[in-house]
Amino acid sequence: MNIIRLLLIVLILISGALLAAKQTWKLLADDGLHDPQSPAIELLQEPSEALILLPPDTTGNMVSWVDALRDKYIEPRSNLFSVTKVKILDMDIILENTGEMSLVRFPHLSHTEWLDCDNCHDSIFKEKVGANPINMFAILNGEYCGRCHGAVAFPLTECLRCHSVARRTFTGKPGVQPK
Ligand code: HEC
Ligand code: HEC
Ligand code: HEC
Repeated sequence: MNIIRLLLIVLILISGALLAAKQTWKLLADDGLHDPQSPAIELLQEPSEALILLPPDTTGNMVSWVDALRDKYIEPRSNLFSVTKVKILDMDIILENTGEMSLVRFPHLSHTEWLDCDNCHDSIFKEKVGANPINMFAILNGEYCGRCHGAVAFPLTECLRCHSVARRTFTGKPGVQPK
């Protein structure tokens, strides 16, 4: 009995260590972006040093930026000019043209905590449910959600973070969701 318990603890510790080990970053000199010969490489802060302090994620640059912002690990300046009105909108939209995949929940809240309405409306998305012929091919080509996801926001390989609402459990109506 005790041995089984011990084994369990060891297993949990090992898997914890493996998970933690996944959160690693390339050195600036090896990232293919910085010139390894440049003297500045010695002066710049390594991403690992800065990012290890932030809430972890399992993909992208290994930081959950949504949590980092909400839990006040970071407090980025929201506007440069005092006249700019910061608008936060708590409105979820369910998109239903997902074939066999689960439905997509688009949360305005977590987006408007980072972005202005103008960043999306009307250049990337017309401000009307169903007015945009969004599809996965276009997204993978860097349009619609793919303008940011896979570039600066979590990557497109994380299917279920967008396709998060199972069809059989969803009883509501697609489009704007009641709060
Ligand atoms: C990251 C991109 C993004 C940002 C930023 C964004 N939206 Fe949207 N918005 C969407 C998407 C996607 C839809 C759904 C489009 C569709 O169904 O084709 C939508 C739909 C809407 C709709 C239509 C609802 C309806 O009843 O048809 C309104 C209104 C709207 N947004 C307002 C706003 C406002 C106000 C802001 C800023 C506070 C904002 N949005 C910021 C992506 C965004
Ligand atoms: C950034 C969000 C996002 C991610 C990540 C994502 N999808 Fe989608 N997907 C969408 C949206 C939005 C639609 C269109 C929904 C609509 O217009 O009603 C869509 C549509 C689809 C469709 C419907 C058919 C088509 O071609 O449009 C399929 C199938 C699909 N996605 C599969 C996937 C798979 C598989 C993955 C992971 C490899 C994935 N998606 C990742 C947002 C995403
Ligand atoms: C203009 C840039 C932009 C566009 C366009 C965009 N997103 Fe995002 N999205 C972000 C950023 C930034 C975040 C927060 C950082 C992250 O999670 O990587 C985010 C986060 C998310 C999250 C996680 C929310 C949470 O609370 O954890 C989901 C889900 C999501 N996006 C879905 C979508 C879908 C679906 C579309 C297309 C209909 C889309 N996004 C279009 C920038 C964008």
